[in-house]
Amino acid sequence: MTRRHVVALLLSLTAPQALAACLGAYNVDPSSVSVSGLSSGGFMAAQLGVAYSDVFKTGFGVFAGGPYDCARNQPFTMCLSNQTSAIDSPTANMKVWSGKEIAPVKNLKSRRIFMQVGTADLTVGVNPMQQLRAQLSAFDDPAKVSFVVSDGAAHVFPTDFDGAGDNPCGESSSPWISNCHYDGAGAVLGWMYGKLKARNERSHTGTTVPFDQTGKYGTLGMDSTGYLYVPAACRHGSEVCKLHVALHGCQQSHSQIGSKFMDNTGYKKWADTNNIIVLFPQTKIDNSLHVIWNGLSLPNQNACWDWVGWYGANTDQRGGTEMTAIVNQVRTIVRGFKG
Ligand SMILES: *[C@@H]1O[C@H](CO)[C@@H](O)[C@H](O)[C@H]1NC(C)=O
Repeated sequence: MTRRHVVALLLSLTAPQALAACLGAYNVDPSSVSVSGLSSGGFMAAQLGVAYSDVFKTGFGVFAGGPYDCARNQPFTMCLSNQTSAIDSPTANMKVWSGKEIAPVKNLKSRRIFMQVGTADLTVGVNPMQQLRAQLSAFDDPAKVSFVVSDGAAHVFPTDFDGAGDNPCGESSSPWISNCHYDGAGAVLGWMYGKLKARNERSHTGTTVPFDQTGKYGTLGMDSTGYLYVPAACRHGSEVCKLHVALHGCQQSHSQIGSKFMDNTGYKKWADTNNIIVLFPQTKIDNSLHVIWNGLSLPNQNACWDWVGWYGANTDQRGGTEMTAIVNQVRTIVRGFKG
């Protein structure tokens, strides 16, 4: 073995291949940014879409989530289990906070909003989603709102194909991704961006890039690594791409179900053919107790996105720690915009 080979071998042994890279900047149009998520990721998508509507300029999609600010003035259980969540004080808060604690609510008139829930969902359910719709109707343009109820679907991310290891559509069980003969990812991305090119039905052609979710890109409740899906056409900056943030639900983080949320939901299939970069931020299991909005002490052992106040009373307002980390990620990605 030559000296050069030895050096190369040593470098390869010590190379930090397991470590995630720094999040990169891409040629992404800042006005194309949108977000969607399931369950706690759906609550978080609504929080981001409302509090940071100046960042999520295209709009937001909520799969089986509930009203914005739902758990501040009522037990969080009222926002789950097919309860009719109260929306009066959350909606009044939106009006009072507009332009201060949250972005101006008048932005919501021009945002595209997508909502979906299954009739067999008893984890969150149709009633909390109806209440979200009623709440947003005080601000939105009904022509820009899509509300979909899927017959027989449980608390799952709905797809129209069989992903490896998916659970049955009528059953709320891990990994909460199911062939419900309804293409949720295509529906939300189509609602955000208009007519899309047919999705990639073969293996993904882009790259899933792990990135360092620490420092300004992470916080309490978030894992040290997040993932960015970069379609081949978006890798080198020659094309202007779009950015969609896709938020997993409780018990769906990478540390819990591996890459299933990224691979089985269908987001990547549409991303490949439509030049959409997809950001998959990640939570982690947090077994320590935190005082939530309603005063209870609760751990976050299912790795949920925070919509109950675990990580601060301002969790659903600008400056809320998880939203700030996600927004910092978005701002870095769009910084590469060249037009
Ligand atoms: C949710 O509540 C409505 C009534 O408000 C009921 O019709 C529906 O069946 C309930 N959903 C489930 C899954 O039980």
